[in-house]
Amino acid sequence: MQTRLPLPPGFLFGTSTASYQIEGAVTEDDRGPSIWDTFTAEPGRVVDGSSGAVTCDHYHRWPQDVELMRRLGADGYRFSVAWPRIQPSGSGPVNQAGLDFYDRLVDALLAAGITPMATLYHWDLPQALEDEGGWLNRDTAYRFGEYAAVMADLLADRVTHWCPVNEPNVVTLNGYGEGTLAPGKALTYGAIPVAHHLLLGHGLAVGALRSAGAAQVGTATNHLPVWPLSDDGADHQAAAVLDTLWNRLFADPILLGTYPEGLGDAMPGPVADDLVTISQPLDFYGVNYYNPLGVRAAPEGSPLPFELGEIPGYPTTDFGWPVVPEAFTDLLVDLKERYPAIPPIIVTENGASYATGPDEHGVVDDQDRIDYLDAHLRAVADAVGRGVDVRGYYCWSLLDNFEWADGFTQRFGLVHVDYDTLVRTPKRSFDWYADVIRAHRAGT
Ligand code: NOJ
Repeated sequence: MQTRLPLPPGFLFGTSTASYQIEGAVTEDDRGPSIWDTFTAEPGRVVDGSSGAVTCDHYHRWPQDVELMRRLGADGYRFSVAWPRIQPSGSGPVNQAGLDFYDRLVDALLAAGITPMATLYHWDLPQALEDEGGWLNRDTAYRFGEYAAVMADLLADRVTHWCPVNEPNVVTLNGYGEGTLAPGKALTYGAIPVAHHLLLGHGLAVGALRSAGAAQVGTATNHLPVWPLSDDGADHQAAAVLDTLWNRLFADPILLGTYPEGLGDAMPGPVADDLVTISQPLDFYGVNYYNPLGVRAAPEGSPLPFELGEIPGYPTTDFGWPVVPEAFTDLLVDLKERYPAIPPIIVTENGASYATGPDEHGVVDDQDRIDYLDAHLRAVADAVGRGVDVRGYYCWSLLDNFEWADGFTQRFGLVHVDYDTLVRTPKRSFDWYADVIRAHRAGT
């Protein structure tokens, strides 16, 4: 039996997923193609050659997944809406079948006593919009605002929590800068305008959600504490550059209404006016945290001034990511210090990849995941103890799922998914999380 973690009363415990990673059914009910359908069809893009065409088949099995959540007893569930199900070509006519899917899902969640949190963009851009330049094109931000208004009209009466854009930094830097995620463009600094358009899209969506009376509007921003790999000044400088590009480029405009020095000039359009739209007040600031990143100065002549390296001295997950819970506490405290007016924080994602599968008795004994989650929840509690207002924690993920360019090689779920049979098996971490939640509610 768990004892209660020192987290505030009313603290929200949840789980997180994303449409392309769990739904499958990519051609059903008039869903349009997304950039992830295109990207996964290109040879060499995904390590195991897989795609989200079927993945967990949540599109058909969602009642079972809601039942799993009811058993888990979590207060909240963060899911994402697939834009190409709602507007198959990214703009114009709305597809009723797409609306119906999320309408039913939300009703079922509420009936099970689960508070829905909706993400509007978790990377599955309608391909038709990418064909017009995707997030390099300012129009995409306006199309996103219109789509947000459609979803707000449908669900703002029942969905309390909203995250317009998931991890705009990953979309910009990995999707358009490096090319390791869809749409697979390797533009390096040419990707910078993408950041501005995603931020503008965020702001326009916030406006649409507010107009429809949405209760709680926030973000889901990835934060990577960037650690220099030595005391060398050059490594410190390299770390500062990556920290600016990864963390501040997105948090400063939203929370301060400014770009980090020098970057505003690189942005296209009426930047000063856009920053007003981008920095509208929020009800919560969503943080996705997994690990810190080790960085050193790149050799002269490299296209970027930094390169990544291993942080020595910590255990790693099966993804090779260092397990450093104290970096999570520091991140939360640093956010509060850097942005004194930051709204309450919700951890919109945190979790770990471990491959553990069922043993001969069908038990998935994923003690590594339990240790990771326990340490990170305690890290959140430590931040709360140091004065940071953290209101909730959403574990990534409810289910094992399609891990983007890593296909099905990484498992983050509290529930194991057999991709041949689609059978779901709750892992030991599922029971552990259920106990943590029960203990918190009971106040024991
Ligand atoms: C963050 C992303 O939002 C999610 O889609 C991904 O699966 C996890 N990180 C793990 O990499």
